Amino acid sequence: MFPAGVTIDPKTGAVSPNTGTYTKHLSELRSIYHDGAEFDARLARQGDAVAYTVIEYREPGADIFFGTTTMSPGRIGDEYFMTRGHFHERPDRGEIYYTQSGEGVLLMQSRQGEMRSVEMKPGVCAFIPPDWAHRSINTGEQPLIFVWCCNQDAGHDYDVIVTRGMRQIVVERSGAVAYLPNPKFAAGN
Ligand SMILES: [Fe+2]
Repeated sequence: MFPAGVTIDPKTGAVSPNTGTYTKHLSELRSIYHDGAEFDARLARQGDAVAYTVIEYREPGADIFFGTTTMSPGRIGDEYFMTRGHFHERPDRGEIYYTQSGEGVLLMQSRQGEMRSVEMKPGVCAFIPPDWAHRSINTGEQPLIFVWCCNQDAGHDYDVIVTRGMRQIVVERSGAVAYLPNPKFAAGN
């Protein structure tokens, strides 16, 4: 294993060299939005679209890895585009998100259901503590691009958030970002 300098384009999220990429389309994310009818209407009206792209740089056997996430702007009804959100499988593994372009919200939820958010904008490096679920939300008009770095063995637990959602949803109200209780969140499950 050798040191490397990896170029990250803050305007496109390109990572060079990189070791992998994946793309999530809106059609794969229906369950995370609170308004299913609005979701179906949007896809019928405008077709499927790329919701976000993840590009990683990973050295097998190293403790950490990093990469970028590039999120499209948009809304389903009043709810901003967002990532699925996840806990790490390992409860002792945190992460950082360092925003490069755009604006958004990093919504976090502890295992006990406590909520916190950190503004995402260029220059802000968010600290995600171990065992806090995290979801990024693009509240702006431009792509939201951030660099993440975490442990390779952190693992992803998507099921809890996809099934239950998070306690809060982030929506547009009169041109401003608003946090509301999630009508789909099933407490106590
Ligand atoms: Fe993570």
